[in-house]
Amino acid sequence: MEKTTQQLHASSNRKPKTLQVSLLSVALVLLLFLASPVCSCKEEEKTTLLGFLDGLSQASALNTSWKNDTNCCLWEGVTCNEDGTVMDVSLASRGLEGHISPSLGNLTSLLRLNLSGNSLSGGLPPELLWSSSIVVLDVSFNKLSGEFNKLPSTHELAMKVINISSNFFTGYFPFATLDGMKNLATLNMSNNSFTGKFPSTVCVDKPFFVVLDLSYNQFHGGILPELGNCSILRVLKAGHNQLSGTLPAELFNITSLEHLSFPNNHFHGKLYPEHLVKLSKLVVLDLGGNSLNGEIPDSIGQLKMLEELHLDYNNMSGELPPSLSNCSNLTTFILRRNNFHGKLTNVNFSTLSNLKILDFRLNKFTGTFPESLYSCSNLVALRLSLNRLHGQFSSRIKNFKSLKFLAFSDNNFTNITNTLQMLNSSTTLSPLIMGGNFKHETMPDYDTFYGFKNLKGLAINDCSLYGNLPNWLSKLKLLQALLLNNNQLSGPIPAWINTLNFLFYIDMSNNSLTGDIPVALMEMPMLEKAKPDKIFPDTIVFWLPVYFTPFLQYRTTSGLPRMINLGYNKLTGVIPPELGQLKELLTLNLSFNNLYGEIPESIGNLSNLQVLDLSYNNLTGAIPSTLGMLHFLSKFNISNNDMVGPIPTGGQFSTFPDSSFVGNPKLCGPTLAHHCSSTDAAAVPVVTSTEQHIDKVIFAIAFGIFFGLGVLYDQMVLYRYIYVGPVCFNYNRQQ
Ligand SMILES: *[C@@H]1O[C@H](CO)[C@@H](O)[C@H](O)[C@H]1NC(C)=O
Ligand SMILES: *[C@@H]1O[C@H](CO)[C@@H](O)[C@H](O)[C@H]1NC(C)=O
Ligand SMILES: *[C@@H]1O[C@H](CO)[C@@H](O)[C@H](O)[C@H]1NC(C)=O
Ligand SMILES: *[C@@H]1O[C@H](CO)[C@@H](O)[C@H](O)[C@H]1NC(C)=O
Ligand SMILES: *[C@@H]1O[C@H](CO)[C@@H](O)[C@H](O)[C@H]1NC(C)=O
Ligand SMILES: *[C@@H]1O[C@H](CO)[C@@H](O)[C@H](O)[C@H]1NC(C)=O
Ligand SMILES: *[C@@H]1O[C@H](CO)[C@@H](O)[C@H](O)[C@H]1NC(C)=O
Ligand SMILES: *[C@@H]1O[C@H](CO)[C@@H](O)[C@H](O)[C@H]1NC(C)=O
Ligand SMILES: *[C@@H]1O[C@H](CO)[C@@H](O)[C@H](O)[C@H]1NC(C)=O
Ligand SMILES: *[C@@H]1O[C@H](CO)[C@@H](O)[C@H](O)[C@H]1NC(C)=O
Ligand SMILES: *[C@@H]1O[C@H](CO)[C@@H](O)[C@H](O)[C@H]1NC(C)=O
Ligand SMILES: *[C@@H]1O[C@H](CO)[C@@H](O)[C@H](O)[C@H]1NC(C)=O
Repeated sequence: MEKTTQQLHASSNRKPKTLQVSLLSVALVLLLFLASPVCSCKEEEKTTLLGFLDGLSQASALNTSWKNDTNCCLWEGVTCNEDGTVMDVSLASRGLEGHISPSLGNLTSLLRLNLSGNSLSGGLPPELLWSSSIVVLDVSFNKLSGEFNKLPSTHELAMKVINISSNFFTGYFPFATLDGMKNLATLNMSNNSFTGKFPSTVCVDKPFFVVLDLSYNQFHGGILPELGNCSILRVLKAGHNQLSGTLPAELFNITSLEHLSFPNNHFHGKLYPEHLVKLSKLVVLDLGGNSLNGEIPDSIGQLKMLEELHLDYNNMSGELPPSLSNCSNLTTFILRRNNFHGKLTNVNFSTLSNLKILDFRLNKFTGTFPESLYSCSNLVALRLSLNRLHGQFSSRIKNFKSLKFLAFSDNNFTNITNTLQMLNSSTTLSPLIMGGNFKHETMPDYDTFYGFKNLKGLAINDCSLYGNLPNWLSKLKLLQALLLNNNQLSGPIPAWINTLNFLFYIDMSNNSLTGDIPVALMEMPMLEKAKPDKIFPDTIVFWLPVYFTPFLQYRTTSGLPRMINLGYNKLTGVIPPELGQLKELLTLNLSFNNLYGEIPESIGNLSNLQVLDLSYNNLTGAIPSTLGMLHFLSKFNISNNDMVGPIPTGGQFSTFPDSSFVGNPKLCGPTLAHHCSSTDAAAVPVVTSTEQHIDKVIFAIAFGIFFGLGVLYDQMVLYRYIYVGPVCFNYNRQQ
């Protein structure tokens, strides 16, 4: 290509007089240059490439250009040398399926092969890995499987970069065979199922290793001192394996390290100040999810480049070293679940102005909210839940102009009136999790309330708050989850509740709410049968980097059901027959109230219901036989009411224990103390539509197989697209 351009220049320079002709000829040559090949591909190379195409089962993207009768140097994704030999095959994300043909190993000048992001299956032909020409090989994000066998490497290989990550490879990887690859600098084998010991000797013959990524595999064993031979290693990632032992001193001799990431292994021991200080180029240090103990060394302050520090889920203790305030590039600081104590005011946070994520959940920090932290105006997520902090927030909390996630539950903060007053003008805050504070204060009411323009989750549970359900709640138009349980709130459930168009998780249990259950509650838009156009609007998509930590990912599918929990209140009246409208409801708890009257027949319409608790009320009448139609109902409690007649048979009823029915002296059934006699009507068989039942069972089984959890499809969709955060609500108390 370069040659051709030079020739073009030369020819136009030689004929400066006839400019027009010259221009024309340039144009012509250019046309020819674009339309026809600069080089013609070698016949055997073409055959080899067609051999690769043959191995594919689905290659529609290549089909049009990869034709036998054309120059293969012009085929999509193929680049040739001047002599017509293939140099580069770049076919990332082309929807390719089928096998990778070993024939590619016959392309003697192939330098780069990139097949990343397809659906290729089968094994990786050894011819490619041990090719004498290939320098960069990327087959990541495919469905390749099988094991790698040790091959005798007879000659020196040119390979520099191997990326076999995100496939289904298994077994031992023959690291010893890499010895032949004297130039290998980057090896990415993350996200497979490789086993065996951590390859500590990988640099013994290859001191020039730069990037090693082994994360998400099943490597075990310790890191041996030989790793210290990696004198220019920059990136070392081995998280999510079964590695153990201590971090050897030699590891800290690799002063070139910029990224050291070992989360979710079984490492133990301490971080020694004289070791850590040597890694002065560290940008990311991730040792979360291990069993490390000891303190954060004071020398951490000398890691000036540090941007991410993850030490969560360890057994570390001690106070925060004041020197942390020297790590001014820090953006992410995660100490969740350790035993750190002492005052947060030890650290001057005002120098950490780049801080975006700070998560100190579940430690033993004491004292007040550090004044200097208010300077970190770029914070996106701040979590201090489950510590021993106290005091009031200052109005400087309004400095957090980017804050999306705020959780400080289960501390001893005070003055809820002032706190909400200061926070409610926030237009960014999405979940606000502040339960377990403000003990015995009064639920505030406001004349002017800006209404948190973006609030999707609000947790003010476990505060023993007095007062009513305030009107300002009705201004939280995007609210999806509302937790007010375990307070002493009184008064009625307001009729505006159904104007909260996105609310689907309501927990007001264990308060002193009075009055009837309003019909408005039976009209909650998100709990009624979902209409296609209103299911999950884009605006609710919620994303927070905090969730990317390992342990939380497992929780994303088990979190928020569509729920109404009004248990343990003083509600009276009958259960509104409009209940049948809440077809999307998964959990309904009305236990421990003063409800009377009959259970409405329409309850049989709640076809997704999994949990129904109506115990400890004054309900009368017979158990509606329509309940038998609820095939997902797995927990049912009607105990301690005044129900009469026989327990229906069939359906889910055979699976409920006697404790579901006790305390209803007039209820009879074969296993209850009161057997049905001729005076009780004969046992009512439940109404079931067999066809519908079979449909549901197939549905449930299908999804059970897909997700292994038996999670309902709509739940899956919910959590993937709109969940307010597994972190916040699915284990409320702990936030
Ligand atoms: C290529 O496309 C043709 C039709 O366009 C189709 O019949 C053939 O199966 C395709 N081949 C591959 C390998 O996808
Ligand atoms: C390509 O075409 C040549 C002749 O035109 C033929 O000999 C050869 O077998 C063909 N190759 C393939 C793979 O179809
Ligand atoms: C590679 O080329 C050799 C000789 O040209 C041939 O015998 C062999 O079958 C080819 N291998 C593949 C996998 O196409
Ligand atoms: C392969 O291609 C993908 C997609 O273009 C790219 O992200 C990746 O970096 C490439 N691999 C290498 C090793 O260059
Ligand atoms: C595969 O890994 C290499 C080296 O780490 C990297 O350059 C390349 O971008 C990765 N490919 C993809 C698709 O991420
Ligand atoms: C390794 O590949 C994965 C994709 O499978 C990528 O996410 C990761 O960043 C790569 N590691 C390195 C160190 O480049
Ligand atoms: C692991 O690979 C799977 C399948 O390719 C992919 O969906 C997933 O995102 C990868 N995980 C990581 C952490 O790279
Ligand atoms: C680390 O390197 C220093 C010299 O650079 C050497 O004296 C020391 O023995 C090394 N320590 C370990 C544990 O390898
Ligand atoms: C912070 O990072 C930037 C580059 O991202 C670097 O230039 C700067 O030196 C770092 N700050 C300190 C204090 O090292
Ligand atoms: C919480 O703070 C109040 C006063 O601010 C104090 O009386 C109370 O003992 C504290 N509670 C706990 C559990 O520390
Ligand atoms: C709560 O904060 C407001 C505003 O700072 C203040 O006027 C009020 O006295 C505080 N209440 C208590 C009980 O400290
Ligand atoms: C239940 O109803 C009976 C009368 O029907 C009444 O005596 C009793 O107080 C009621 N119990 C509750 C908890 O409301």
